[in-house]
Amino acid sequence: MSKQIGICRAHTNIALIKYWGKRDEVLFLPMNSSLSLTLAAFYTDTKVTFDPSQTIDSFFLNNKKQAPQETIKITAFIDLFRQNYSLKGAVKVESHNHVPTAAGLASSASAFAALAGAVNQAAHLNIEPTLLSTYARRGSGSATRSIFGGFVEWQKGTSSADSCAVPIDDADWDIGMIILAINTQKKELSSRAGMKLTVATSPFYPAWITSAEKDLAEMKQAIQQQDFQKLGEITEANGMKMHATMLGANPPFSYWEPDSIRAIKKVKSLRKNGFMCYITMDAGPNVKILCKHSEMKFLKKELEKEFASEQIILSDVGPAIRSLSEKEWLDL
Ligand code: ADP
Ligand code: DP6
Repeated sequence: MSKQIGICRAHTNIALIKYWGKRDEVLFLPMNSSLSLTLAAFYTDTKVTFDPSQTIDSFFLNNKKQAPQETIKITAFIDLFRQNYSLKGAVKVESHNHVPTAAGLASSASAFAALAGAVNQAAHLNIEPTLLSTYARRGSGSATRSIFGGFVEWQKGTSSADSCAVPIDDADWDIGMIILAINTQKKELSSRAGMKLTVATSPFYPAWITSAEKDLAEMKQAIQQQDFQKLGEITEANGMKMHATMLGANPPFSYWEPDSIRAIKKVKSLRKNGFMCYITMDAGPNVKILCKHSEMKFLKKELEKEFASEQIILSDVGPAIRSLSEKEWLDL
């Protein structure tokens, strides 16, 4: 049998209503539904080769062969497809992150969406996007949403079968996001560990759940009405509430750094001066600013008064996953 190849590009997404906590850690079922914006600026390209002549899986990230503890995660993920579709043979996975890895900039989201898309293509499975999002979910929860572009909801569902992504709106209005890279080193505490500790120990967690469901319903309304101010206000409030749950954990923790707070203050002062810009942060010190696309360049100039220009990345709204040809892959 010959080799089978699939190549896929998936973009990262930034949650505006956060996913923070699992009700089932094996199936990656979340405690609450979440909603994100897919980003054009950051993505992962992944090539999967099913090779009958190989007996063990291998994984290369950014041209570097990965250690067994990283390859194990890939094997566990591909095993889901092997079991459900009786696929045979080991795989070689080659991936390139056009996003810093494990720094709170959602590399795991684009990574597992790209991997799911590449397996789908390599093995000619023809899995439709909604079902594919349930596979992506099993690699990393946030990857569920990276299957689609624009605004995407991850519905928490009632079981593994219906905990999936649903595209809400293509976000083809005056929207952009600025990523302020405060620190792109690998974080000390993964999102997975951070959310687990929060669920287990934070007395604020039940309040987070109630409040996140309410925020989600209101945000969906704001999106429907293209009400940017409401969208921004809910985004900022929801992100802050997620971070508050961590301060209540035992032991308490925070992903923030002094420069994160400096960035938050700067954005608030820009808002006072009439700009529509709102903060969200994930499991890392980096600050994401939801803003109007038409104001992005001006906001960048303002941010450059306090931060280096290399720290400031402007992003358009990103698309859904797509297959890449061998030529596109070689040209990368
Ligand atoms: P982030 O904030 O970047 O999503 P996480 O700690 O949630 O950070 O996830 C990072 C992990 O995702 C990495 O340690 C690695 O296991 C996995 N990962 C990142 N990029 C890739 C990739 N391109 N292919 C496969 N797995 C990846
Ligand atoms: C703060 O999806 O990285 O970015 O499911 O354990 O892989 P695992 O966690 P992950 O967590 C993302 C947390 C977040 C919020 C979000 O993206 O919704």
